[in-house]
Amino acid sequence: MIKGLHRLEYRGYDSAGIALLNGSLTIIRRKGKVKELEDFAEGQNLVGTVGIGHTRWATHGKPDDRNAHPHLSGNGRLTLVHNGIIENYDTLKKALEKLGHEFTSETDTEVLVHLIEELQSRDNLPIEEAVRVALQKVVGAYAIVVIDKEDPEKLVAARKASPLVIGIGNDDFYIASDATPIIEYTKKVVYLNDEEIAVVKKDGNLQIFTINNELQKPKVQELDMEIERLEKAGYDSFMLKEIYEQPQTIADAMRGRMNAGESWIRLGGIAEYANKMVNAKRFIIVACGTSWHAGLIAEYLFEDLARIPVEVEYASEFRYRNPIINENDVVIALSQSGETADTLAALELAREKGALIYGIVNVVGSSISRLTDAGSYIHAGPEIGVASTKAFTGQLTLLTLMALKIAHLKGNITNSYFHELLTELENIPAKIERILEKSPKIEYIAGEFKNTNNALYLGRGYNFPVALEGALKLKEISYIHAEGYPAAEMKHGPIALIDENMPVIVIANNKSAYEKIASNIQEVKARKGVVIAIVEEGDDFIKNMADYTIEITATEEPLSPLLSVIPLQLLAYYIAIQRGCNVDQPRNLAKSVTVE
Ligand code: AGP
Repeated sequence: MIKGLHRLEYRGYDSAGIALLNGSLTIIRRKGKVKELEDFAEGQNLVGTVGIGHTRWATHGKPDDRNAHPHLSGNGRLTLVHNGIIENYDTLKKALEKLGHEFTSETDTEVLVHLIEELQSRDNLPIEEAVRVALQKVVGAYAIVVIDKEDPEKLVAARKASPLVIGIGNDDFYIASDATPIIEYTKKVVYLNDEEIAVVKKDGNLQIFTINNELQKPKVQELDMEIERLEKAGYDSFMLKEIYEQPQTIADAMRGRMNAGESWIRLGGIAEYANKMVNAKRFIIVACGTSWHAGLIAEYLFEDLARIPVEVEYASEFRYRNPIINENDVVIALSQSGETADTLAALELAREKGALIYGIVNVVGSSISRLTDAGSYIHAGPEIGVASTKAFTGQLTLLTLMALKIAHLKGNITNSYFHELLTELENIPAKIERILEKSPKIEYIAGEFKNTNNALYLGRGYNFPVALEGALKLKEISYIHAEGYPAAEMKHGPIALIDENMPVIVIANNKSAYEKIASNIQEVKARKGVVIAIVEEGDDFIKNMADYTIEITATEEPLSPLLSVIPLQLLAYYIAIQRGCNVDQPRNLAKSVTVE
């Protein structure tokens, strides 16, 4: 169980707990990482044939032992773990308090287990029925697993808007938020759908029904994942491994989908909806965080190459502002995890309005991948480091292929430019290898800035979103305040921040607007700012102006973010390491944000 929690830890790591049933019920909960729980459990005689565990990312109630899961019912009979948010918890809590329930934590989860208890004891219901009736009263998102001490041969699980997968072993079942802890034991899985409840029994029986009590036939699928991909493979951290994997993951994203020599691109999802894509009035891209930055680069790609108007939306904002979505819009969802609640909710809205939904997702079988009409998997393998790196470049690779394919179908680019870009795309993995060889220099530069309190990232055109991404990487893993800006926008405000203590990272490998970027660097230097410039190999002009330069190989401008982001990932990584930060599990964050 602890091993499984370690595998899931990247999803949340502020407290953890387990409950084991073995005649009696034992629950242990600990603030902090799973390791704290593991150390606490060591030496205790913890055995059981049925158990549940949880590693938490706090929503309601601060991270401490009391708020950690599993949560217990008032009568001590039921125990439950939960991902998601019970939005009407306050109303339910007040009603339960009137009935005499007392709560020991600040969580919404504890309310749910009391609600199940209330319904079970009031109507003498079997646990699965009490869960079903309780879930009909709940507003919000949940993936839950419940144990009933009086019915010890079964586990009851349910989901709505938070992922849940059931692994089917030879004589055992495994239930988890994703397949990473299951793969070690079985490759046979069933993904639970929204508003479905599963009952797994010790005798090997699995039953699935909806919250409206309709029996469902479990759809067993085979996992395509290797356990080795969940290990660090000799690297100090998952993040470093994932940065170094990028030549491979980009090649994997292209494999079988293009051939530069023969000048073709084949993307299954696009072939199926070619007409709709080519005639789309507008593309709307919805995503969060790093995926949103990939979406911003896609805006340049689709408008520049395919001449399709694009809107890039924060999924969380899009949903709540009554957006105009037409049937001839194509909505593109970008997500590494395929589980981001804001993105999922935005897609549900788009679907209601009749738009075609295309997904670019990494995790196979994830909720977003199942909600879309068509799409392409990134095939980057599991990304465990909380800071997204290889998924970002994988998304960019697919977005480039998509833009090129549609541009070609529309006749917007010449055959020769199409061929040129494809050829150059094939060269990208080798060019990234060359950048990775520059790690020692980047590590040295990181040492010079490890004690800075602020940093400014500037870029133009295709590389403006890269500036945002570089700043986000630094913020999330080193806790240094950083901002990304379009380089020319600096003079409209942020320039006031510049002095000799302000490092300014300028992405200056653009071919277009090169002189303008050079002028922006001069403006920074005139105010004593310290400039770290990302330049093309052999660019002595900017080298002479900047305090530090990191050279990257030249490429076609639409592909330049695939290269310019690599030194920024490494810079953030080395700064964070030199500040003693945990790069894989930065404070307050979680890999997969399954709450709105
Ligand atoms: C990136 O480094 C992040 N930790 C975060 O911004 C992430 O990109 C965001 O939460 C979206 O996740 P998704 O791609 O899995 O949807």
